[in-house]
Amino acid sequence: MIVWPTLANWQAHRETLSDCSIGLVPTMGALHDGHRSLFERSVRECDLTVASLFVNPTQFDDDRDLSAYPCDPATDQDMLATIGVDHLIMPNVDEIYPDAYRYRVNETGLSGRFCGAHRPGHFDGVLTVVLKLLNLVQPDRAYFGLKDYQQMTLIADMVSALFLPVQVVPCEIIREVDGLAMSSRNVRLSHEQRDQASALPRILMQGLGLDEAHKQLEKAGFSVDYVDDFQGRRLAAVRIGDVRLIDNVPTPAQQEDLHERR
Ligand code: PAF
Repeated sequence: MIVWPTLANWQAHRETLSDCSIGLVPTMGALHDGHRSLFERSVRECDLTVASLFVNPTQFDDDRDLSAYPCDPATDQDMLATIGVDHLIMPNVDEIYPDAYRYRVNETGLSGRFCGAHRPGHFDGVLTVVLKLLNLVQPDRAYFGLKDYQQMTLIADMVSALFLPVQVVPCEIIREVDGLAMSSRNVRLSHEQRDQASALPRILMQGLGLDEAHKQLEKAGFSVDYVDDFQGRRLAAVRIGDVRLIDNVPTPAQQEDLHERR
């Protein structure tokens, strides 16, 4: 795996690449098996896989959350090399934002709902950095996890609205044995909080009405940002202490549908 020391070096190399398919997996590092599944899929489906590792400050609405974001680049690099990733870019903030974020992508509908309603500016930051990474890597395919369902939907919409020549590949949620969706933030949970966290997917899967699901989440000790249904998925964001967790599962109606089709 080549670790590119600067974005300019990578860009010069990118110009030499032709006649091969390129997969991009954008990440903020602190890689886990959920990320691993995205990389493995890209390695299977593309001639070359590029990983980006960049903790994007513009998508954090809270400085404490940004400074607490886990970061272990050496372990991340080991994982990427064993999976067979070909290129790693690890840009710094000045390289990604030479404009000091004067130019940004602002979606005016969905990005204000669900997570966007609780994290002002979050999706502007996400869409802006993803657009920049797509321009820098010019991949044929870009891989995103469905755990961030709203993020995935907005990125796919942006790609379509701006006629970007890339295929967005949504990838299944990878879960721990007790059902908790894998997330870089899980390492910040204490033992007790980690046990408590498994109630999130369990309650979402119970097929309850939304009000009841909300009540049950609170009863399980979460502070609930939202639980809502959208496009056949039940989405939720909750907090335990200062750790924010998100998840989504098929809505009760979708679950019934899936059950009947089996
Ligand atoms: O999902 C993430 O890790 C981030 O939001 C992304 C897509 C890498 C943009 O910073």
